[in-house]
Amino acid sequence: MIYKYIYGESIETGAVVEATRECKQEVSVMQFVRTEEGIRLSCCMEPDDVVYGLGEQVRGMNKRGFTYISDATDDPIHTECKHSLYGGHNFLILNRAQTEKVVENRPSFGLFVDTPGRVVFDVGETKYDQLTITTDGDCVVYVILGDSLKEIAKQFRQLIGPSYIAPKWAFGYQQSRWGYACEQDIREVADNYQRCGIPLDAIYLDIDYMENYKDFTVDSGRFPDFQRLVHDMKEQGIHLVPIIDAGVKIEKGYSVYEEGVQGNYFCKEEDGKDFVGAVWPGKVHFPDVLNSKAREWFGSKYEWLMEQGIDGFWNDMNEPAIFYSENHLKTVLEEILSMKDENMDLHAFFHMRDQVVGLSNHPKDYQSFYHDMDGRKVRHDKVHNLYGCYMTRAAAEAFDKIAPDRRILLFSRSSYIGMHRYGGIWTGDNSAWWGHLLLSIQQMPALNLCGILYTGSDIGGFGCDTTEDLMMRWMEFAIFTPLMRNHAAAGTRLQELYQFEDIESFRNIVRIRYGLLPYLYSEYMKAAFQGEMYFRPLSFDYPQDSHAFQVEDQLMVGESIMIAPVYTQNARGRYVYLPEEMLMVRMKSLEEKSCRIMEKGHHYLEIALNEVVFFVRKNHMLPLAILNDSVKSTADVETSQYEWIGYADEVAEYVFYQDDGISKDYPPSREWKKVMLTKERLEENINDGAGKL
Ligand code: GLC
Repeated sequence: MIYKYIYGESIETGAVVEATRECKQEVSVMQFVRTEEGIRLSCCMEPDDVVYGLGEQVRGMNKRGFTYISDATDDPIHTECKHSLYGGHNFLILNRAQTEKVVENRPSFGLFVDTPGRVVFDVGETKYDQLTITTDGDCVVYVILGDSLKEIAKQFRQLIGPSYIAPKWAFGYQQSRWGYACEQDIREVADNYQRCGIPLDAIYLDIDYMENYKDFTVDSGRFPDFQRLVHDMKEQGIHLVPIIDAGVKIEKGYSVYEEGVQGNYFCKEEDGKDFVGAVWPGKVHFPDVLNSKAREWFGSKYEWLMEQGIDGFWNDMNEPAIFYSENHLKTVLEEILSMKDENMDLHAFFHMRDQVVGLSNHPKDYQSFYHDMDGRKVRHDKVHNLYGCYMTRAAAEAFDKIAPDRRILLFSRSSYIGMHRYGGIWTGDNSAWWGHLLLSIQQMPALNLCGILYTGSDIGGFGCDTTEDLMMRWMEFAIFTPLMRNHAAAGTRLQELYQFEDIESFRNIVRIRYGLLPYLYSEYMKAAFQGEMYFRPLSFDYPQDSHAFQVEDQLMVGESIMIAPVYTQNARGRYVYLPEEMLMVRMKSLEEKSCRIMEKGHHYLEIALNEVVFFVRKNHMLPLAILNDSVKSTADVETSQYEWIGYADEVAEYVFYQDDGISKDYPPSREWKKVMLTKERLEENINDGAGKL
């Protein structure tokens, strides 16, 4: 059941697609207070209650004990003390522990606070037994009651609509780096992967491909025949994926700028002048993507790159990030100049430093420009969390017109609930830290809960120099994430897989991903079509098992698999909790694998650095594609011959999905195939790993 409560005249966010009638009674599960700015909701929590959700944030799967703030921020240092990352994901589930107390009076519930401004979720930081949510403005609150965590999650997805479906090639392995500066760099990456026999489906073009960081341009000096390059790469099975930034460079004669000014498509200051911020190209204007005409215009600009053969994009800097604003910079520079002859003491020096550091993403700047939301003038900070979502919507709506029958890869850095209908996200500028491998594991189910299925983090870490062991362990986890992209910041060590010593192991790990593709793709499609989660905390599948609620470093992936990645340096294995008897599958390569049935309970497992280990649930199974040695990309993965892994009391069945991977004409009824195998048949596989279907 979904209950909708309307508080004041909140700005429509577009998050919800399902019409829901307003409930006029009091919110039953929380106390409600009106504040000067917005509302405050609060409720008590018992010690064993668990809070899931809030999408892209730091810390664990259970969000208790900290304050999270929805306030999209371009902050590349994702340390535990940060309250906000790039998204505004205002959905959580409070799971009430099943104690002796009467459960009916304390039902578990889902809560979506739909408001485009800042929201503070104090999940028991101030008082461990209190959940307090404070908004900065009017809002609509949805309370979802259901019989289980899965059921609540599913109802929420019905409310916010179906998830974006990426083309199948976007489930292949992808290579990126800020710093591939010219055509030769791109060709070299492609050739090196091919030389090493490591499959690859995409290479990313970071800001370096543009002419002076101008959106929708390609530097013709460094990319003399762009169309040819795109074409040649496709011949090698590789898609090029350019970045698009939110800010449009202010430059006379640059057509996107000129058109934007003429069409009145940019965000304005109070007095109607176009707002001037600065990002990579220096001074920019921001397209007013909250205005339908401006959105249509900005979206139409992607077409030029699509005409060059491009079929995937990543939208960036769309919180929007502002290095400085013209007005704020002027004030700070004047202040600094006035101190020219001063003998700066500690206070004066730190003040000056803070002034400079504080130039970026300053709250005052976000209060100084406006959107024209189709006739309604709205100050940016009131709708701040929508910007990235609407930039991505601009692109997605344009793709529907430009290429109505084809899927285009699209993901964004900033997002709000509802953006999952238009594209995916990646988790931004993480670092090459072991802690960030764990963070990535923990972020995945929280994002899925908010509908964002096409997601993954920068493998190996974006900032700082990675190490070979970190990269290998990260890859062993990332073979399960729909977006599997190795990306790094300029100035960090090179981290393409062929840069390391043990290339053979990396090759094997990537090939395992390609072998798993029929399963991973089927499970993604099931999650997308059925409004389910692809990644789940164990408690979603084992709600009666109180220990499952404690497990913060294992995940269910689709219906058959549980994973328990290794995420600490020098570890030769780890403790794993099995909530039921499962089949452990160990793989050093697609060819070298072994399976063993393991009892429910706690186990210490040795897991070598180059080993992939996962667990198959009882009476479940999964298809593994049989790859020949020359597989270069997803296009080469044979879709008619599988090996099956699983085990059963009598029979196991699996429903899997196949399509051409590119058209939007999803035919679920025709393409779902059910396969049933007997215990004996599956055991043949367990023993010799050679059974084929
Ligand atoms: C931002 C992005 C990062 C990208 C860089 C340069 O930091 O998050 O992925 O490489 O900008 O475009």
